[in-house]
Amino acid sequence: MIRIIEPRFSEEEKEVILQILNSQQITRGSWTARFQELFADYIGVKHLFTVCSGTVALFVALKAVGVDGKRVVVPAMSFMATIDAVYLAGGVPIVVDVDEHYTMDPNQLEDAVKRYRPKVVVPVHLYGQTADMSAIMELSERYGFYVLEDAAQAHGAEWRGRKAGSLGHLSAFSFYASKNLPMGEGGAIGTNDDKLAREIRKWIDFGEHPAFNIRITEFQAGIGFVQLKSLDERNRRRREIASKYSSLLKEDFHVPQEREGAYHVYHLYTLRHSQRDSIVEYLKNKGIDARVYYPYLLHELRNSEHLPTPNAEAFRKEVFSIPVHPYLSDEEVGFIAESLLQAVRLAQSPLCSV
Ligand SMILES: Cc1ncc(COP(=O)(O)O)c(C=O)c1O
Repeated sequence: MIRIIEPRFSEEEKEVILQILNSQQITRGSWTARFQELFADYIGVKHLFTVCSGTVALFVALKAVGVDGKRVVVPAMSFMATIDAVYLAGGVPIVVDVDEHYTMDPNQLEDAVKRYRPKVVVPVHLYGQTADMSAIMELSERYGFYVLEDAAQAHGAEWRGRKAGSLGHLSAFSFYASKNLPMGEGGAIGTNDDKLAREIRKWIDFGEHPAFNIRITEFQAGIGFVQLKSLDERNRRRREIASKYSSLLKEDFHVPQEREGAYHVYHLYTLRHSQRDSIVEYLKNKGIDARVYYPYLLHELRNSEHLPTPNAEAFRKEVFSIPVHPYLSDEEVGFIAESLLQAVRLAQSPLCSV
């Protein structure tokens, strides 16, 4: 099976794990401090706090702003953690549609903001491409809401030369095993705001109010530290593969488009086709792990208040993702593209059903 997700580790990670074991400092040590410093620098934020998952990063960021009983806008297409964190933090989610790049539609956001006066808006940089952050930040200034970037899928992505995670008031990352920067499990919250940083710290250091233990271990931080050094190189390879796919598939599929001003890091390479289900089935039979991210819309999943979502409803029926991880060989990329073209020919043939 050509896997859709494939984290790989070198001798360097193994050496770091051994060093940590030998040091007997397995939590709250120098590796966590070093990773936080390096990632803060990489993203371009003043404060960066590691936590145990992306979901917890979203939760703590929302708690730091204070969303109890307040409205929080999220897009219809994302992993469920985006909306679950809002509920868990005591907020009231309002779901809006996505634009043609699968990220929050700023036009509809303005309607939602006028109607619901949210305290926080959570754009999701879905599949590795940032939302239209200029439009969203402009609305934030005009209407006075906080922007929390869900950058769980966008390590190293950029918008107009600035890194995802440094564009809003706050950001949340995930270092889950499948992510462009994997640690196994883990997350981080970034901010440039000193006051918000003080609030975040209360969730990390015990004492100020009841809190969970949400720290990562030194092992995770050590892996993250090593993986971060080659993140740009891996993202470049993802982009190379994506560009190859797009040139081979653009006549037969709706291929992902890079927004002008964006640097897409292809956490997922997501296409659309009306015969999606039979194509995915065909690929699976060929040993290619294709998957649907995501088969649900957030407001349907959690029965939440929402604006009309015609784009998300149409896309949800047609999207599917194929392997784009940086360790694919050129032969595998060619084989996957060729299999997709065969699947389309079969799906469209009157004599065969795939
Ligand atoms: C967009 C998005 N938000 C939030 C999360 C939650 O991260 P985690 O699984 O680390 O809790 C994920 C990933 O899993 C995600 O893809």
